[in-house]
Amino acid sequence: KENKLWGGRFEQTVTDKVEKFTESISFDKELYKHDIMGSKAHASMLAKQGLIGESDKDSILKGLDEIQRKIEAGEFEWREDREDVHMNIEATLTEMIGEPAKKLHTARSRNDQVLTDFKLWCRDAIDRIAASIKNLQVAMVKLALSNEGLIVPGYTHLQRAQPVLLPHLLLAYVEQLERDAGRLLDCKLRMNFCPLGACALAGTGLPIDRFMTSEALGFTAPMRNSIDAVSDRDFVMEFLSVNSITAIHLSRLGEEWVLWASEEFGFLIPSDSVSTGSSIMPQKKNPDPMELVRGKSARVIGDLVTLLTLCKGLPLAYNRDLQEDKEPVFDSVKTVVGMLEVSAEFAQNITFNRERIQKSLPAGHLDATTLADYLVNKGLPFRTAHEVVGTCVHLCVSRNLRLEDLTLDDLKHISPAFNQDVYEYLGVENAVNKFSSYGSTGSACVASQLDYWDKEYCHV
Ligand code: ARG
Repeated sequence: KENKLWGGRFEQTVTDKVEKFTESISFDKELYKHDIMGSKAHASMLAKQGLIGESDKDSILKGLDEIQRKIEAGEFEWREDREDVHMNIEATLTEMIGEPAKKLHTARSRNDQVLTDFKLWCRDAIDRIAASIKNLQVAMVKLALSNEGLIVPGYTHLQRAQPVLLPHLLLAYVEQLERDAGRLLDCKLRMNFCPLGACALAGTGLPIDRFMTSEALGFTAPMRNSIDAVSDRDFVMEFLSVNSITAIHLSRLGEEWVLWASEEFGFLIPSDSVSTGSSIMPQKKNPDPMELVRGKSARVIGDLVTLLTLCKGLPLAYNRDLQEDKEPVFDSVKTVVGMLEVSAEFAQNITFNRERIQKSLPAGHLDATTLADYLVNKGLPFRTAHEVVGTCVHLCVSRNLRLEDLTLDDLKHISPAFNQDVYEYLGVENAVNKFSSYGSTGSACVASQLDYWDKEYCHV
């Protein structure tokens, strides 16, 4: 067996079971690129500070580049007995270039090294997720643009509430996604402080320059407190919280579209290219992608809970438990990106069943609130107007009529405030046209929102 990089004080080698149980190379090799970036910055700093020679630095940098090439060409041998990505790379570097490689870990611990790698990885992951969010926003805005003017029932309690324009509804998701992207960027700003140089937990007496490595790696500044630097995992808790919120937004979209694709609603027709069938029922066409978007949100929440639970009982500073922080983060990122991409693809492959939607609009007295507003315009207190319209609805329900079917006599019988112009307020088209408040579903308001998002996202 090869001597461990930490083997000096040991008389026995570790058992196979323990080696297998404690390794992380099977998953943390995902960090290789960022590990190499961090090591290159560290080596350059060590040379500048006179802690290693210029020629040591040159061979380290050359060796690390060669390792990266090998990894990317699939020629690198990842060894479980070398435990993790950091020691795999360092041990291979030592085989390749000899003595200079043994100087690379000067004034560094795997504790600050792994955090540096992980933060660099998360920073890139955040950019990837933000790009996928934007891609979905564009798909939703395009869907909204191609359905301008389409009125759908709006729901509260899943009961018919008021008529809304479909683009208004779709843009609600775009707004949610915009906040998700904003939270990601906030999280990145707060995360972007460099742990490198904190060493095991206490820093070092060697004359390193933490500001130099921090800057070289694109961090805002070195972390102020070395103990905090190697213990901090709130940056990943925050990151996975943000992902969980995004996942929940997508899950709600998934639920809505699954519902709308049902026979009972029939508002949305997914194309065959985003549907799947049943192995027994020949007639079936299921909206599985959006069901799985809904389902996979569970994993993303689970990943967050894993991380929170992992950290809850840990004393400062580093504890090996923390090695368990990586898989949930990798899983969360992969899952959220998949959910965003599939939602965008689904959005690009659905049509709304205008005829079915149109037919459904008369049900549920969607114009009742607009009718109450009419009476307010005529001078009635809102509570009185509410009561009057309630009586009108009651009459409609008992006679199976729409509000617009009531005659002026019927209406006047309930309140003398009604006039012939009431019919300009009744029916869903009229009702939608009456909305005018900022952010409302009125066609002018929605047009300006659409215009905003179209300019923001579709023409850049
Ligand atoms: N593989 C370890 C992790 O991911 C690296 C740090 C190990 N540090 C240690 N003192 N054993 O946490």
